[in-house]
Amino acid sequence: MNKYSEVVSSIEESRTMAISSLVKKLKAEGKNVLSFSAGEPDFPTPEFIKHAAIKAINENFTRYTANEGYPALINAIVKKFSAENNLEFKPDQILVSDGAKHSIYNVIMAVCNPGDEVIFQSPYWVSYPEMVKLAQAESVIIEAGVKQNYKITPDQLERAITPKTKAFIFNTPSNPSGIVYGKKEILALAEVLKDRDIFIISDEIYEKILFDGEEHFSIGSIEHLKDKTITVNGVSKAYAMTGWRIGYAGGNREIIRLARNLQSHSTSNASSVSQAAAYAALSETSDEINDMVKKFKNRRDYIYNALNKVEGIKCPLPKGAFYVFFDVSNYYGKHANGYHINDSSSFCNYLLTEENVGLVPGVAFGNDNCVRMSYACSLEELKDGIERITKALSKLHNA
Ligand SMILES: Cc1ncc(COP(=O)(O)O)c(C=O)c1O
Repeated sequence: MNKYSEVVSSIEESRTMAISSLVKKLKAEGKNVLSFSAGEPDFPTPEFIKHAAIKAINENFTRYTANEGYPALINAIVKKFSAENNLEFKPDQILVSDGAKHSIYNVIMAVCNPGDEVIFQSPYWVSYPEMVKLAQAESVIIEAGVKQNYKITPDQLERAITPKTKAFIFNTPSNPSGIVYGKKEILALAEVLKDRDIFIISDEIYEKILFDGEEHFSIGSIEHLKDKTITVNGVSKAYAMTGWRIGYAGGNREIIRLARNLQSHSTSNASSVSQAAAYAALSETSDEINDMVKKFKNRRDYIYNALNKVEGIKCPLPKGAFYVFFDVSNYYGKHANGYHINDSSSFCNYLLTEENVGLVPGVAFGNDNCVRMSYACSLEELKDGIERITKALSKLHNA
């Protein structure tokens, strides 16, 4: 008999979190580390949101709320989905959790049985495979490499479906690649899912961080998928509120009922004060969000151009989120100072030790040819980062 839980023992620590901890440790040791591993905006939470939280504390809004979220917030989420996503829900189709991560976890647990298959693409967000493992289901991963701009085709989706397919996880704009699926592409994927007993979990956490006139389209708004889709979103990325831990899910009533039940026996309601802050974020308008997106776009433009000038790097243009995901496999097989680069982890280790630059290896996202760089940092840091990366790579030579 295994001394510890076999299921929990089978999952790995989140690699993005592990890199962040390592970078923090190196900084604490006094190293001049430039970390591009953060999955969070570098801006402070807007003032009006902070005020709402302070007001909530002063008004003693500090007790348990309803497990699924307090009614005003639930109603604000219903309105948001209707106004921005063309999704019509009743309040009993909404669940507020401790971050979108928690919402996705609750939904996957509510949907999967042991042996079920869950389809998603690589590159993928780090937590999908581990959550699927926790539900004792199997991940079926569709590879979408740099050549296909990190996007899957309807044909690939069709081929991945088996009688065991239970759910399809879809993420646009994407972490780690920043790619955005357009409406036409989404309609084509939806056609494959038509008349099939497959739930769709649509992770739309980066919905508001879009560039070049891209528009967000929610797969759950397609008529024939309405009842089968759970749409997940949250305030972490759009409102620079990662630490407040508020995410939410809306969709299929029975899945939401089960997910609520699960939450009621694990964490119960998300923090009351954070819910009040999220309510302000969703119900008031502010220029701060647009300003943030403009800054991300300037940085995106800089980093995309600068990276593509570095010899051997292939970086497609991200249209959303705040990451670039670029192919570094041209450097595999090269050496410098006792370092041998043969995969994304050795590439990142080399950059970290040689030039104190923290990137996340693509293997964490299911693509070992690439690395992820977050541009949720200042332009100065990005410029310094490019210089250091160029310097480290220029030292690499063939064996
Ligand atoms: C694609 C994606 N989904 C979900 C989340 C979870 O967001 P949170 O739990 O902070 O709301 C993240 C965070 O990095 C993400 O990148």
